[in-house]
Amino acid sequence: MAKKRTFECTACGARAEQWAGRCPGCGGWGCIEELPASMAGRGPAGAAGRLGPVPLLSISADASAARVSTGMEGIDRVLGGGLVPGSVALLAGEPGIGKSTLLLQMVANLATAGSPCLVVSGEESHAQVAARARRLGVAAEAITFAPGRDLAAVLQSASEARPFLLAVDSIQTIRDADAAQIPGGVSQVRTCTDALVGLAKGQGIAVLLTGHVTKDGDLAGPRALEHAVDVVLTFEGDARSGLRVLAGGKNRFGSEGETAWFEMEPSGLREIDPTDLLLSGERVAGAATALPLAGRRALAVEVQALVGATEGPPRRQATGLDLRRFQLVAAVLDRAVGLGLGRAELFGASGGGVRIEDPACDLAVAAALASAATRVPPPPGAAFVGEVALTGLVRPAPGMAQRLAAARAAGCSTVFAPRGETNVLEGVRIVPVGQVAEALSWARRPAGTPSERRSA
Ligand code: TYD
Ligand code: MG
Repeated sequence: MAKKRTFECTACGARAEQWAGRCPGCGGWGCIEELPASMAGRGPAGAAGRLGPVPLLSISADASAARVSTGMEGIDRVLGGGLVPGSVALLAGEPGIGKSTLLLQMVANLATAGSPCLVVSGEESHAQVAARARRLGVAAEAITFAPGRDLAAVLQSASEARPFLLAVDSIQTIRDADAAQIPGGVSQVRTCTDALVGLAKGQGIAVLLTGHVTKDGDLAGPRALEHAVDVVLTFEGDARSGLRVLAGGKNRFGSEGETAWFEMEPSGLREIDPTDLLLSGERVAGAATALPLAGRRALAVEVQALVGATEGPPRRQATGLDLRRFQLVAAVLDRAVGLGLGRAELFGASGGGVRIEDPACDLAVAAALASAATRVPPPPGAAFVGEVALTGLVRPAPGMAQRLAAARAAGCSTVFAPRGETNVLEGVRIVPVGQVAEALSWARRPAGTPSERRSA
């Protein structure tokens, strides 16, 4: 015979044999919790009675022991060692940054590894989510789907299916039909979050919510619910380029400030190890360190160039770099420094092939090209920041504080940066640059080097 379960409203003390998202007694959302068997026999005591003292160590399972891997090492690390059953995490980011993609990849990993997952979406239809799963090539067999616009229906689906994880995409498209407010408004977002937190705590189902934040920092919805959830993850990047960074903010189950880096590819998000982006690891000709920005963080990435002689029409190819900008920087450099690149074959690449389209990487591209042409490596521990204008002027770059921090983290001690930069960081020397040539004084071709003979 199945064990009888007892649930009680923490607000009014009403009891029931079934869990519900909303208390039939007082109408409150997310306040129904399962009573431990030892308490179910006692009379209803309301909230006060349930909060009586119990032996401290009567809690059996250590939360960390029960953590479940998301199948993505970086996400596990940011979470503090995996997903905690019954915890509520918010994945916040700008529209288009890749939240739904990350959610689906995570859910597929969990489901494949034996933790059933229910995806509810108010953002996309069943067909759209299925099409995305196919496009991503994720193992979707063990994932179930339900529409995610109506709070009561979502709570019901979840309490019937009892998955390990309920993934809600997004908290702004779900609504409590009984409340008058519009979906996405702060009070709707709060009500729905409270109800989902109640589901997580009452049923031991982990909940992952996505939430949109806007560029100008207007975080009406997600900010308002940060206090209600256990973990806040932010997902950021420049939607034009491929770099993405997942960062842990508030975390009841782990340390704050951990990050995981990804690249958005046609086949979905690929986890990257930042140390793989600095390929050479030492000074070589044709390689320079760039500091592209992704959201509110920056990362050190090596850019490489190869310059070759040719009789025919010169080829120009770039991997990970924007080809038009690459050619433009080469043309400016030719003019400003006279490297004779005009008739040469030029190849450019980024470390790990990550797509970087941050214009402030121009100066690093210029340094890599100058280094390749002269066969002189850039100075030890140097990184380069600045957008290069057609006139050769090096324009200021946003996010300099983050770029300097990324430089220091990658072991760079010198940053060639646009003149007028006011940010400073201990341990990092800034070399102010007005014109592109000023950043390349080290790239003087010694007389009689092989490259000179070859191009003669
Ligand atoms: P999405 O996950 O829908 O973002 P969000 O849920 O945060 O709004 O991803 C949006 C962008 O990502 C979209 O512009 C297309 C791009 N994308 C890829 O580059 N590769 C992919 O495999 C997928 C699914 C999306
Ligand atoms: Mg989405």
